[in-house]
Amino acid sequence: MNGLRAILKFYAEMGAEFLHLPGSDPRADLAELNREILQCRRCRLHETKTHYVPGEGSNRPDIVFVGEAPGETEDQFGRPFIGKAGQLLDKIIQKMGLSRDTVFIGNVVKCRPPNNREPLKDEVEFCLPFLQRQIAILRPRVIVCLGKVALNNMLGTSHSMGRIRGQLLSFNGIPLVPTYHPAFILHKKDKEEISKAKWEVWEDMQKVLALLPGKRP
Ligand code: URA
Repeated sequence: MNGLRAILKFYAEMGAEFLHLPGSDPRADLAELNREILQCRRCRLHETKTHYVPGEGSNRPDIVFVGEAPGETEDQFGRPFIGKAGQLLDKIIQKMGLSRDTVFIGNVVKCRPPNNREPLKDEVEFCLPFLQRQIAILRPRVIVCLGKVALNNMLGTSHSMGRIRGQLLSFNGIPLVPTYHPAFILHKKDKEEISKAKWEVWEDMQKVLALLPGKRP
């Protein structure tokens, strides 16, 4: 009875609209959730998007990477992080000794905001429950937040990434490692700044790996 109470409390705190009962099939649960995302009309973004981008990867991942929202390439193909920022993320994942299909990659918002503007408050409010449900189904051991927009929308905070990175945070009891968004690095012009930011991301990823005994870069 206490176990059930703990599960219900977890879902209530997460604002989840559906119960994912431990022991159920994550593949089926994710497929059902994807069907819902692909029919979503909760906010204006469904009118301007080309494709929904629900997220993809393993359904039993150690790590979930969370970005802000799909960009132009992602919108075109319905897949997360496949443009330039995605190519850098792929390199980071490879350097960690992992591959895209062993992790899960998603976004706070599942439709591209016009001209890649930041998602608006109500768009996040409508879409965030999808990410919360994805995380509840996937039950990763670590969440990596890519950039301050993803971080602050997930946690309801207003951190600067430069200041908060290096700290270990948590999301519904799951360790959360904040780091720079790959696009933030790609937008830099100064070569020294680029190297520094890449090195800092690598430091953050070592923290992630340290939370996963048995995984080494
Ligand atoms: N930037 C993001 O935040 N997400 C993507 O999927 C692609 C680029």
